Parts: sequence; structure tokens; C-alpha cells
Amino acid sequence: MDRIRIIGGNELKGVIPISGAKNAALPLMIASLMTSDTLTLENVPHLADVEQLIRILGNHGVDISVNGRRERQDEGYSRTVHFTCRTIVDTTAPYELVSKMRASFWVIGPLLAREGHARVSLPGGCAIGTRPVDLFIEGLTALGATMEIDGGYINATAPKGGLIGARYTFPKVSVGATHVMLMAGALARGTTVIGNAAREPEVVDLANCLNAMGAKISGAGTSTITIEGVTSLSGARHRVLPDRIETGTYAMAVAMTGGDVTLEGTDAALLETALEAIRRSGAEITSTPTGIRVVRNGGVIKPVDIVTDPFPGFPTDLQAQFMALMTRSSGVSHITETIFENRFMHVQELARLGAKISLNGQTAKIEGVQRLRGAPVMATDLRASVSLVIAGLAAEGETMVSRVYHLDRGFERLEEKLNRCGAVVERVSD
Ligand code: UD1
Repeated sequence: MDRIRIIGGNELKGVIPISGAKNAALPLMIASLMTSDTLTLENVPHLADVEQLIRILGNHGVDISVNGRRERQDEGYSRTVHFTCRTIVDTTAPYELVSKMRASFWVIGPLLAREGHARVSLPGGCAIGTRPVDLFIEGLTALGATMEIDGGYINATAPKGGLIGARYTFPKVSVGATHVMLMAGALARGTTVIGNAAREPEVVDLANCLNAMGAKISGAGTSTITIEGVTSLSGARHRVLPDRIETGTYAMAVAMTGGDVTLEGTDAALLETALEAIRRSGAEITSTPTGIRVVRNGGVIKPVDIVTDPFPGFPTDLQAQFMALMTRSSGVSHITETIFENRFMHVQELARLGAKISLNGQTAKIEGVQRLRGAPVMATDLRASVSLVIAGLAAEGETMVSRVYHLDRGFERLEEKLNRCGAVVERVSD
């Protein structure tokens, strides 16, 4: 198993190209199941989760071809991928494939909408909480589907003639369940109105792509989304939006190590709340014509309290990274996690580097320390693993992060991007 070795202490200086968003690419790829024409996605990141979803889509009959090698060093790395699903050859998404990544469960929406039935294994993914599927079941039931759990699978069946548009309000905001309702409602008969919908930029990206394919969706980005069902969708060409979590992660790395880095090909509007928290910690952040610039020249890191919330709140996917930043602050800060109940597994690993953090329920109290010292640490989930990398960059000496397969699920060419800015990060294969 690969590990990542970091020699900390260097400031970061230079340019980091931001990849296409993993969390946007996954639902967009799944939308290719909804048409027999070709869906072309540009700016698809090259990540383990994307490769895993390619395998899953292939199993349903999606033909996939990849092109677009990067020609210049300073260009982004992401690729253009063509997805064509002439016919759906299998409506079962098996345990062996779905258990590796929660988002693959979302194929249930298109399979049900296009074929009238689907058998999908209950999902797996990061061990950051129980992550049930009750909202998917309730939402699709509202569209007339019969949903039965049988031997670890959900058997979903649409009424004769297909799903029927309906009004459904989520009792809790869910990104994935909103994606699925968009895809199911797009091919349902009549109008679907989703209340308390997720407002994440990735939901807007999916709605834009579905509309380019011929869907009639309005209100994405607000908490009420209206979908006029259509009988079929066509192909389209769509560019995956920039990864706001990758953007925030590197911004926090610079805020922690100090330095001056331009994040290319991203957009501050995707993560204003997180950028504001980083600014309050003492870094300067400005928008450039093609991205954002993050600068911290000396000065202390100020303590900042945050609470995670659905968009436009502070993203739970940046909570661990922000905690890493706060371990070096000049005072006491508090971080409250409201989305996932078990998302503090990085705390004990950060402590191995010398951080002082105590937990009280869903709130972590972080007492800033003068210095962190490198140590062996273990990645526990995707976002937690990158928080250890950030902390390692700011620690004295060597930090060795094991279980880096978590990182490879969501961060494209992390070592290369950081090393180009003066960091010393190396992948070590056992
Ligand atoms: C997506 C993101 C993930 C991010 C999360 C929250 C992708 C691929 N993943 O995950 O990176 O951390 O949004 O921003 O886009 N819930 C239920 N019942 C359900 C579904 C969800 O109770 O049926 C709960 C979850 O346990 C969690 C909360 O709702 O507590 C939010 O989860 P959700 O927004 O669904 O997360 P994902 O879509 O899985």
C-alpha cells in the first residue's frame, strides 16, 4: 500500500491548477444512463472514484471513451470523456461495485426512470457516519415507485407507464437524494416539485447538464426545484465545474504554511463561506480573472470558530482541513460538525503531530500550539486524509501518511501540485 512522505516547513509559492469537481462529475456521469445519445463531459478529474464509477456504468451498458491529454505543464489535468448508453443491458447494480462508493447508489434514479425498474445494492463509502438511504426511498415513493429492501438490495419498480411527477419536501437536506430526484423527475410524467432541496453548486451543475439534454428544470440553487417531466433526453456537451473542496483545501494549506499561491481555473463564488473563514484566520484572498490568489506573509494564524452546514454554509468536506489550520492558531477555536455524526476521526491523528484538541459531542475545541512535529499518521477517510497532509506541510520534520488510497479517491495529482509550489511530498510504495 502506498504512503505519502512529507518533509514540512516550506512555504508554498506558485500556481496550482484546480481540477474538475469529483462531486459534480459523479452525478453527471450517472446522468449518461438517461439517454441513448452521447453525453460528453469536459474537465472530468482522473480519480479512483471516477474510475470506479466508469466500471459501474460499463456494467449497465455505457460505452466510455476518453480523450484529452494535457499538452502544457500549466494546464489542468482533467479529461474529456464520452459516455454512450444505447441500451441499458443490466438494471442491477451489484454489491461488489456499489459497496466501494456511496455515490454509485445514485444510479437508482436513471435506471428507474428509463427502464421502470432497478435493483441496487445498499451503498458503502467513507466511514463517516451511518449515512442511511431513507430520503431516497421516500422521494422515489412519492413519484409512485414501489421500493422494497431485499437481501441488502433495494428493488425499485415504477408504475406502469413510468414515474409520476409529485410534490415532495425533504425532511433533511441531502445532496445525493436531490440529485436522484432531479434525474427521476426529469423523465416522470407531469410536474415534480422538490422542497428543501440541496443548494450545492454540484446540484446546479447537474440541473444545467440535464437541461442541456432537454430536461425542464428550474430553481436549482434554491431550496425549491421544479421539474416538468419530458419523455426522453438527448445527448449534450457539458463542462464539469471546478472542485470547490480541492480549492478550499489548497487555500487552507497556504494559510497554514504561509506563502503566495494562485489557484487556477476555480471560482471564489463556489466557496465564499469557507474563504471568509480563511480570511478571518489572517490570509489574504483575492479573485483573479482565472481563479483566486491566497497569500499569508508571516503574522499569526487567528482562531476562528466554524459550524458546518449545507451550502451556502461551511462545507463539511472542508471541516478536517480547517481543523488542521486551527491547530496552529494563536488561541482557542471551536469547530461544530452538523452533517455527519462521526466525522472527527482525524482528531486523534492530528494529536500525533502535537495538536491539542478535545471533543465534546459534535464540537471540537482546538487550542492552538506553537509548532507541530512530524509523525507517522493514518488516513481514515477522504477529507480527513488531506487534513493530515496539510498539517504535515506545516509540521517540523517528517510526516508519513499511510492508507493514501483514501486521498486517491478525491485529489488529483496531489504530490505533483504541491511539489510544484515548493513542498516536499513524495509517494512511497511498499
Ligand atoms: C455528498 C458529498 C459528500 C458531502 C455530503 C454533504 C458526493 C459524491 N458526496 O454526499 O462529499 O460530504 O454530500 O455535503 O457528492 N441522509 C439521511 N438519509 C438519506 C440520505 C442522507 O439521513 O437518505 C443524511 C446523511 O447521513 C447525512 C446528511 O443526510 O447526515 C447529508 O448527507 P448527503 O447530503 O446525502 O450526503 P451525500 O450526498 O452522500
